[in-house]
Amino acid sequence: MKIVMLGAPGAGKGTMASRLSAHYNIPHISTGDIFRENIKNQTELGKKAKAFMDEGALVPDELTCDLVADRIRKADCKEGFILDGFPRTIPQAEALTKELSKTDEKVDHVINLEISDEDIVERMSGRRSCPKCKRIYHTVTPSLKPKTDGICDDDGETLVQREDDKPEVVLKRLSVYHEQTEPLVDYYRNLGVLDSVSGKNAIDEEFDLITKILDK
Ligand code: AP5
Ligand code: MG
Repeated sequence: MKIVMLGAPGAGKGTMASRLSAHYNIPHISTGDIFRENIKNQTELGKKAKAFMDEGALVPDELTCDLVADRIRKADCKEGFILDGFPRTIPQAEALTKELSKTDEKVDHVINLEISDEDIVERMSGRRSCPKCKRIYHTVTPSLKPKTDGICDDDGETLVQREDDKPEVVLKRLSVYHEQTEPLVDYYRNLGVLDSVSGKNAIDEEFDLITKILDK
């Protein structure tokens, strides 16, 4: 099953993709996580991506599309994958469609998580994540808080706040989303693979709704 998670920054794509990945036993591929890992390791790609990410802009398509094309051809993607944060522009979506068409494949489901801009700004300020296992937490929402403040439940690492979660960068990311990524909703609706789900449901409820769609 090839799944794309769509939605604004902070809509919950990473949170849901990681649960779906465990449930369906297919890899969770987050371009944001891949770029952050490259920044941490100071690779050439990381150095190029950092300037764009720090200001809330998109990393250019030419640095992104080939990377994803290579990733989805790895052996662990044979049964499918969940893309989180890709595609983000029409050219990226077209590149994905073209890459999959080489083997007569296509995206099976696109889940669009809907949430208002006001809710997003509030969510981002409380987001924390584990730098090691990437698990995502929230400092306020009870079901998303770690057992010990600031510490990952799974591996004991100190949780971190993302550089691009500063309020002014979040606002820029939101405007980039509306301008460049939101058109993908129509793109995938026209392909007949889009389902929209409220990103404001309680996590378990949201997970049930999405698995019902995917299992149909
Ligand atoms: P990326 O890492 O993809 O960030 P994003 O799309 O802006 O999305 P986020 O990761 O911020 O949010 P999310 O939807 O995953 O929400 P989360 O689950 O964490 O990209 C970062 C940057 O990398 C981009 O700005 C760009 O520069 C670059 N980049 C990446 N991909 C690119 C591409 N394809 N092309 C070009 N550039 C690219 O949840 C948010 C918070 O809400 C958490 O605290 C969570 O605990 C909480 N939460 C989640 N769900 C719920 C719920 N149902 N109820 C209550 N709280 C919830
Ligand atoms: Mg994410």
